[in-house]
Amino acid sequence: MSEESLSASHPTFPADPAFSAQANGTAQMYDAAAADHEGFWAEQARRYVTWSTDFTQTLDWSEAPFAKWFVGGELNAAYNCVDRHVEAGNGDRVAIHFEGEPGDTRTITYADLQREVSKAANALESLGVGKGDTVAIYLPMIPEAAVAMLACARLGAPHSVVFGGFSAEALNTRINDASCKVVITADGGYRRGAPSALKPAVDAALDHAETTVKKVVVIKRTGQDTPWTEGRDLWWSDLMNAASETHEAQPHDSEHPLFILYTSGTTGKPKGIFHTTGGYLTQCAYTNSVVHDVHPETDVYWCTADIGWVTGHSYIVYGPLALGATQVMYEGTPDTPHQGRWWEIIEKYKVTILYTAPTAVRTFMKWGHDIPAKFDISSLRLLGSVGEPINPEAWLWYRKYIGGDRCPIVDTWWQTETGAIMISPLPGVTTLEPGSAQRPIPGISAEILDDEGMPFTEAEKVGYLVLTKPWPAMLRGIWGDPERYKQTYWSRFGEKYYFAGDGAKYDADGNIWLLGRVDDVMNVSGHRLSTAEIESALVSHPKVAEAAVVGASDETTGQAVVAFVILRQEHIEEADEVGEGVDLVKELRNHVAKEIGPIAKPRTIMIVSELPKTRSGKIMRRLLKDVAEGREVGDVTTLADTTVMNAIKQGLGD
Ligand code: WTA
Repeated sequence: MSEESLSASHPTFPADPAFSAQANGTAQMYDAAAADHEGFWAEQARRYVTWSTDFTQTLDWSEAPFAKWFVGGELNAAYNCVDRHVEAGNGDRVAIHFEGEPGDTRTITYADLQREVSKAANALESLGVGKGDTVAIYLPMIPEAAVAMLACARLGAPHSVVFGGFSAEALNTRINDASCKVVITADGGYRRGAPSALKPAVDAALDHAETTVKKVVVIKRTGQDTPWTEGRDLWWSDLMNAASETHEAQPHDSEHPLFILYTSGTTGKPKGIFHTTGGYLTQCAYTNSVVHDVHPETDVYWCTADIGWVTGHSYIVYGPLALGATQVMYEGTPDTPHQGRWWEIIEKYKVTILYTAPTAVRTFMKWGHDIPAKFDISSLRLLGSVGEPINPEAWLWYRKYIGGDRCPIVDTWWQTETGAIMISPLPGVTTLEPGSAQRPIPGISAEILDDEGMPFTEAEKVGYLVLTKPWPAMLRGIWGDPERYKQTYWSRFGEKYYFAGDGAKYDADGNIWLLGRVDDVMNVSGHRLSTAEIESALVSHPKVAEAAVVGASDETTGQAVVAFVILRQEHIEEADEVGEGVDLVKELRNHVAKEIGPIAKPRTIMIVSELPKTRSGKIMRRLLKDVAEGREVGDVTTLADTTVMNAIKQGLGD
């Protein structure tokens, strides 16, 4: 893309009246929510959720920032996502069209899902899992992942899903932090045309003297040889075959914990973000309805996220299933066995709504628009984007080549912490502005603050995004660490504002543009990674003395991990020898993959002799970012030793 097209003003796209006529979202919702915030949410809670006991108070904010929503209400999330659709006569409706990477398929109706979830709930109960016990789920993208989550929800046993791409180390910390009793995993999954083992990572994660894990349940997906610990490991199929197909769902308190999901923070230790039941389910279903415009009777919806991320939780499991929608679930990568795989899937299932990430869109742009053009993707009627800012060029490409110049695009801003979509256009209502998430959805309030914490509305001025009112799907805390919750989110600008950690600005039309993280969190292909976590992984390698990590902009992945590493004295010569340095870089990259997971592997590792530090010893990442992005190095006056940057640049052959 040329510079010119980047800076040129872009066309905007008013709502198509035909779309508006059928849209779930309406302009009146903004007014209704503004007039009565709590009343609006109470209405959504009763519209989208079936309560066993109605709530008596919409919001209790008396112990802010610890919120209680729909107080006194009782519900069962699994009943809401499964059983009630069967009871309403929709048991034959397809819940999940599963497409395995090797081409195997399964069609799961709501009646099937009810049987599977009931059996799984019985099976977990037979292992002693009950209300309040935590269960770790470490699975590929297979329907059992949704079944396992719903079975936990049914029992009131909070699940902690750990992304299948995370390492044994990462799994170990997460299992221990939440004291999980059971781990549900698989022998492996298919990735890039080959089976990729998962179970060995679980064994390694549990290979510590102290573990709370009593049982490991293994789903057979690939059939590969699987190490086995007698007495601890059990086959999912054996448990399921022995389990009854019926299970009575008990109601749980609206504020009962539904799940924990770990996300990177600014320190090395991942945060266990936890969500509760009633508010979370309400906002997931409401947003899936008004933002993705899901019509459960007619749409075929496809969210391409992995279940290991919050997008998979909210927009594969809880949102669409609460609505009773039909969706596609795909196991593998977009280029297996060919680069048209997604478009082939859309053609095959006549997908109408596609929700994906900008990094995928940019990859498809790189592969060329002639690839989607080979397939009939005219069933699409709405496109969505999530995970990072979508640059206007990618937005316009997405609309033209995937959306056939007719589909509205919803650019949805939210976070693991917010639980559900917060800032997004409403399709059929909003005039779309490519590249901007635009404005808070009805029921949500946001502002942009300056350095002093003062709200402003001036266009093009950059500030910090904050949320100004509690919302139903908000995190209820950090698992086991209430103080960190307050510190991280409710102290930067005082206790009135939820600090999102994102930079933002308004344009002249009052649209909000999200500008990326303002803290030491990187966003690589829509995945949050912390600089501190990767630094400590690098420093844990015996040859490394010190490390600094920055997120450098990258055309495809948004940001890429770039590491600057100082070696321990005794290894410096080794690195100097031709060839050894290359091996060492490879060794360090693999070390990070082992410690955290392949997604955290630095794209580039630069071996340096010094790092730029302030007089107080803080690493000046801004300067390293200049180097990583090939820019002229900025202001160095606050460096303790102003010659360091020259040394780094010279060392890198600049
Ligand atoms: C970024 C993913 C711009 C943002 C749902 C946020 C976005 C972080 C957008 C949360 C968007 C997500 N535009 N930035 N539409 N969506 N982000 O917790 O920096 O994995 O703070 O949740 O992703 O990432 P998380």
